[in-house]
Amino acid sequence: MKKMLRLIPVPIFGFLLLMLAGCGEENLSALRPKGTGAKIQFDLMMLSIYIMIGVFLVVAIIFTYVILKYRKRRGEEDVIPEQVEGNTTLEVLWTAIPILLLLILAIPTVLATFTLAAEAPEDDKDTLKVEVTAHQYWWDFNYPGLDFNTSQDLYIPVGEKVYFDLTSNDVIHSFWIPALSGKMDTNPGLKNSMWIEAKEPGVYKGKCAELCGPSHALMDFKVIALERDDFDAWADKMKNAKAKADTEAAQAGEEVFKQSCISCHAVGEEGGNLAPNLTNFGDRETLAGFLDVTDENIADWIKDPQSLKPANSMPGFGNDLSDDEINSLVAYLKEQKINQ
Ligand code: CUA
Repeated sequence: MKKMLRLIPVPIFGFLLLMLAGCGEENLSALRPKGTGAKIQFDLMMLSIYIMIGVFLVVAIIFTYVILKYRKRRGEEDVIPEQVEGNTTLEVLWTAIPILLLLILAIPTVLATFTLAAEAPEDDKDTLKVEVTAHQYWWDFNYPGLDFNTSQDLYIPVGEKVYFDLTSNDVIHSFWIPALSGKMDTNPGLKNSMWIEAKEPGVYKGKCAELCGPSHALMDFKVIALERDDFDAWADKMKNAKAKADTEAAQAGEEVFKQSCISCHAVGEEGGNLAPNLTNFGDRETLAGFLDVTDENIADWIKDPQSLKPANSMPGFGNDLSDDEINSLVAYLKEQKINQ
């Protein structure tokens, strides 16, 4: 029985190994850094791992040497080993070495913490600043220097620091783009600061990293990193964006939108700011942060968003709108595009 008990850690470690082997999805992993902040943090992790491996090896080698050399041999059953009480040299050594190792870890960690939380330089007009407001369960990105805001998909230029002021509209959330940088809490009534820098263009996955309610796990967003020229072109188009309704279906949808949606959702300059801005809805990577953008999913979302993302603040329109009205609304929403 005792032997069996000793084997318990084996399946536990095996399970953990399997779980961890699943980590590392491209553009969603802190272990595959694609941003300056994530690289700083990755290097800190590696530093602590190298130190731990060093400590482990030294301890394991001394341990193995001692149990082999000083093991009880046949004929020594009655021998009592020499009794040692205190050894100043050893005690100083095994106090000083851990302190030294902790210092080697602590100094770069503290320096990195301050570096990563730096606020935007006041006088620099070219630096991009974004105000992030977290809501249950979506993200609002306001570009104060550019005079527009967007939701869910955050556009940034690559190769430069983008500064963020983060806050929350309700409970505490946490803003996290694992491949680009570490987490920062968003607190209601407070402003936290951080910056990120993407090293290469791409779409990076963002997560809410603070348990904030039933749909916490679905509070995803995307970071779309573009070359500076492409970003400027995108920002120009965002600034001048207006609602579009080219097809007949979309025109019918616009009517529905103006009756049922516009008090909370904005398109272009018109509309409320209680819910995600839909100016570039047709460009979104995902619907509601986590669903594939298909006509069926958009329609299902409008009918009953609570069944898809529990406890979000959007009411369902399944009873108030006919299927035709909902389909025209889908057509209208899909036309709200900035990129071609
Ligand atoms: Cu917001 Cu978890």
